[in-house]
This record gives sequence, structure tokens and C-alpha cells, in this order.
Amino acid sequence: MRHLLSIDDLDADDLHRLLELTDHMMEISSRPIPKVPALRGKNVVSLFFEDSTRTRTSFDTAAKRLSADTMNFSVSSSSVSKGESLRDTIETIAAMGVDAFVVRHRSSGAPQMITRWTNASIINAGDGWHQHPTQALLDCYTIRTGLNRRDGFDGLRIAIVGDIKHSRVARSDVQAFAALGAHVTVVAPPTLLPPSLDGWPVEVSHDLDSLLPDLDVLYLLRVQRERMEEALLPSLHEYSLLYGLTDARAARLAPHALVMHPGPMNRGVEMVADPGELSGSVILNQVTNGVAVRMAVLFWLLGSGTDLTEAP
Ligand code: CP
Repeated sequence: MRHLLSIDDLDADDLHRLLELTDHMMEISSRPIPKVPALRGKNVVSLFFEDSTRTRTSFDTAAKRLSADTMNFSVSSSSVSKGESLRDTIETIAAMGVDAFVVRHRSSGAPQMITRWTNASIINAGDGWHQHPTQALLDCYTIRTGLNRRDGFDGLRIAIVGDIKHSRVARSDVQAFAALGAHVTVVAPPTLLPPSLDGWPVEVSHDLDSLLPDLDVLYLLRVQRERMEEALLPSLHEYSLLYGLTDARAARLAPHALVMHPGPMNRGVEMVADPGELSGSVILNQVTNGVAVRMAVLFWLLGSGTDLTEAP
């Protein structure tokens, strides 16, 4: 595999192998000096045409822990502001010697298009409404460790709540969770669901409260405020009343249930309770696990047969 563009690129065996590789990366990350020479001499470039807190810094940290060289491309101070095309930008940076581009773009399909213009590996760090595969991998890893499910997610009941229609995280997570055997329900008002869910391995619900006691994982999505301007939501307050995680709703979850969110969170909208006070919250574990998952992805794509378990 040369690129990671979509969870579609991975079958269940690939998912399990990447999650096992992540175990090794977690062990490396726990060392006093969390660094191995596995990708020494490789150059990893982050190209973010959309804002990011977690994904950009997580990939940067991951590449450094594997001793790769890193380059951060800043769109606002680049020649993109003078009208340089995406293709010219890629070809120009690639000419400096790049092994992998980590790409975030507001247009679905941009990472796929970039594969035509460079021999470097392309890792999709989020494209439009389409995919965010490393988010799905870190979410799988968080569930796998949080619920001790090394062998898969058979029988797990996961609800993904919120703006399913516009969410690349929902699309990626649904595919990954279902591939590992989970039973997934998407929960949203009808206006925030895609027009068709044909081919989605999910059930649909508009009633979060009826699901809560049976869930193993409650996965909240960020409500994108611009959806109110599009008249897809009557008000954030109403959304919060029906779908927000309040203390009362959290109290109805099973004691073992995990509460997850990809970030950034809207406190007081989808997250009404204080996540720091929720015993099931693994939201910061998701962030920690994201570094190790991205180390695994970089090693998977760029490693040259090194046995990581023998790395010093
Ligand atoms: N979850 C996620 O993609 O967060 P960022 O937008 O901060 O990278």
C-alpha cells in the first residue's frame, strides 16, 4: 500500500495489523526518550489547506518520534495566496524530495487527485465531507484499548450522534467500526442525515434517549455552527435539548460505556456536561492514541522492512 486515502483502502486484517503496530508505537511513546530511527532520512510534509489543532501536530509528533524530517507548509504565507495552483504547489515541494505528503483539504477527493502529480505517499488528513482515515484508526484503537477488545468489535453497540451528513469522521468511523464487527447506529435530526444511507452498514435513529442504556460507545460529533445559517437546525439550544450530552443523559449510560468526540468540541451544544467529570470520557485518550496511530501509518507506508519490535 502506497497511500492512505480512505478506510476503504483497508480490510479488517489491515485494520487489525495497524492496531497491533500501534501497540508497539504506544510502547515507544512511553519510553523516557520516545524516539526510534525507523524513518531516518525520510521527509514528511504536512500540507494543511484547512485549520487543524490535533491532526497536524499529531502527525508532526509522530514523524519526529520515528526520526523522519518534517516540513510544515503554511498556506497563508505561501504562494497559494498569489494564485499558485494545487498541482504547482505539490510539484514544487515534491521537487525538494518528499517521501510523504499529509494532506488536509476542504475539497473531497483532493488527496486522491494529488496522487497523480507526485511519487510520494499521500495520507489523507481529512478531505471535505469524504474521509478522515487516521481519525477512524485512532478511534478504533481507543475503543480496542478502552473496552479491551483486541479481537474485534463483535456485539459492540456504538452510536454516532450529530451532523452525519457533513461529517468525514462519521463516514470513516462507520466503515471502520462496522468492518471490525460493531453494530453502529447514526443518531441525528433528519436534516443532518445524508439524503440516502444506501450502502451504509448502520441503523438510523432520531431518539438518543431510547438508546443510551444499551450503548458501549457514545460518539458525539461537532455541530458545525454554519449549519444553522443553512437552516438545517432551528437553534443550537433545541439541538442541545434533544442530542446534547447532559449530566442526566450521561447518568443513563452503562458504567463501562465510553464517551468519545473527535474535537474540536462545542461545549454547551453537543457537550453540555463537563467531559472532565465524565467517568467514561476517553476524549484525551483519543488525542494521545492519535500520535501512536499516525506513527503506525507512517511506518506502514514508509518503513523499509525494519522490524520495529527490534528497534532500539
Ligand atoms: N479531529 C480533528 O481532525 O481535529 P483537528 O481539526 O483539530 O485536526
